[in-house]
Order: sequence, then structure tokens, then C-alpha cells
Amino acid sequence: MELKQYLNEMKANVEAYIREYFEPKIDPPTLHEAMKYSLFAGGKRIRPVLCITAYEACGGNYKDILPQASAIELIHTYSLIHDDLPAMDDDDLRRGKPTNHKVYGEAMAILAGDGLLTEAFLMFTKNLDNNIQDKLLIEAIRELAACAGLYGMVAGQAMDIIAEGKTPQKETVEFIHKHKTGALLKASVMIGGILFGASQQQRVALHTYGRNIGLAFQVVDDILDIVGTTEELGKPKGSDYAKMKMTYPAVYGIEESKQIAAKFIKEAVQAADVFEQRSGWLKQIANYLLERTN
Ligand code: IPE
Ligand code: IPE
Ligand code: MG
Ligand code: MG
Ligand code: MG
Repeated sequence: MELKQYLNEMKANVEAYIREYFEPKIDPPTLHEAMKYSLFAGGKRIRPVLCITAYEACGGNYKDILPQASAIELIHTYSLIHDDLPAMDDDDLRRGKPTNHKVYGEAMAILAGDGLLTEAFLMFTKNLDNNIQDKLLIEAIRELAACAGLYGMVAGQAMDIIAEGKTPQKETVEFIHKHKTGALLKASVMIGGILFGASQQQRVALHTYGRNIGLAFQVVDDILDIVGTTEELGKPKGSDYAKMKMTYPAVYGIEESKQIAAKFIKEAVQAADVFEQRSGWLKQIANYLLERTN
């Protein structure tokens, strides 16, 4: 199977799960609609796919962890809705459509984000056919909460805002990227390993893999903000420059940023070696994340 087909199939599995989950009516309907609007606006679903790929690299089957993998996408989607708000990045386009607050207003966009973040933890505790030990579920929830919150994404988003307009600095931009984006990507990979009950050696490998693809992901996002097109990105090109964001290109320039991203990906690919004959998708996804154009 080609990588593209694998990604599309896993993405479809995740999407089908989320769609069914959000089928029953939620009151008030406007809140329900606002959440579904952003959830189904498109998006690569790369975090749930990485969770599944890590779980399968350990020897599992994706069907057992669809709720947990999908829950990560709810948190990611909430983060995008809030990231686009006028008080944050003030962007009008996301996943090729008007941003949530442009359609539903700021209050409903904030609440849709709150709803998705909280619902993610409810979804995460769904244990299909009781395939996962409670002990592992709790450990995975802790990983998710830590990486999405104060020790991860929220801290990174705060630093991203604080650093706007400031003189770019290496340590600061690394903190921002590691936390605002790296943490949730690392968690996605780790959760796959934790839910399987991975060995210590596998966990160390997944940690190195996740940390590196996480950093590379945001460096590439920064580069695409400059060299990509609004059409392909589905979000406004040049948003970082307009807000004087502290990005890797702002610190290192585009060429060196590309080399840094490539170095992170190389380390991730090497770490995946531990999974031997089951390392293929992890390695291919890492390389794809470097070459992606959206
Ligand atoms: C965008 O994430 C926000 C970042 C953390 C850089 P993605 O590039 O995964 O966005 P979607 O989900 O595919 O829209
Ligand atoms: C966002 O980083 C990271 C999040 C936690 C949402 P960006 O602000 O660069 O993401 P985009 O470019 O708007 O998707
Ligand atoms: Mg931002
Ligand atoms: Mg943004
Ligand atoms: Mg960006």
C-alpha cells in the first residue's frame, strides 16, 4: 500500500468515528453546529493517525483505540478555533473556510472550543470492548492532559503571544514550538504506545520520534507561511509576518530552517528503527511531514 492510501484510510476511520459520535443532537443546536463546522471542515487528521500508527507499530489494531485517537483531534480542533480568534492570531480562513468566529461569532467560537476540549476527555474514556486496561487508559489521559495544557500547548500558545513583535531568540522559539505544537504531536505518538503497553525501549523510541516530528512540524508550518499558497494551505499565507511572530525563519532564515527540520526528521526516522519490520509507516509519515505542502 502507498502512504497516501494508508493516510486516507486511517483518516476515514477516524472521521467516521467522530461523525457517528457527534450524530446525536446536542442542545443548543448552535453550539453543536459550531463544533461540527470546525470538526468537519477538513484537516489532515495527522495526530490521530500518528496515534494509530504508533499503536500498530507496537503490534496493535487501530479499531481498539479509535475513541482515544479521535479525541486528540477534538483537542487539536479546539486549539485551531481559539488560535484564530481576534485576540490570538486574528485569522479569517481555516481549512479553506471562514474561521469559526467569522461564522458563529466570538462567544460561540470560544464555547465550541471549550466544548471540544472537554468532550475530548469524555470520548477518551470510551473503552471499546474493554480492550484497554484502566491503568493504561489513566496513564494515557495524564499524557494528554499534560501535553495539551500547562506543560504543553497552552504554555506554548501563551509564549507565542508574549513573544509577538520581540527580537527573535533561539531559546524562545524552541520553547514555543516544542510546547504549542510539539507537545500534542508527541502525546499522539506516546498515547499509541502507552495504550498498547509498550516496552520501555519502545517508549523511549516513540518519545524521541514524537519530539522530533513535533518540532519539525511547526518549523515546516512556519516555512509554509512564507513559501506556501493560501489556496493550498487553506489558511492565510503571511499571517506570521503580519503579526511579527517569533518563528524559525525569523530566527534562522528559510534555508537554515529547512535544514533544521530535515535534521529533526532524520532523528525521528532513526528512532523508529526499534520497530524493525513494523517501522515503515512511522518512517514514511516522518518524511511526508517534511515534504508536505499543506
Ligand atoms: C495546524 O495544524 C496548526 C499547527 C499546529 C501548525 P495542522 O497542519 O495539523 O492542521 P490541519 O488539522 O491539517 O488543518
Ligand atoms: C498554532 O500555531 C499552534 C496551535 C496550537 C494551534 P500557528 O498559529 O502557527 O498555527 P496556524 O498556522 O494558525 O495553523
Ligand atoms: Mg498561533
Ligand atoms: Mg495561527
Ligand atoms: Mg502557522
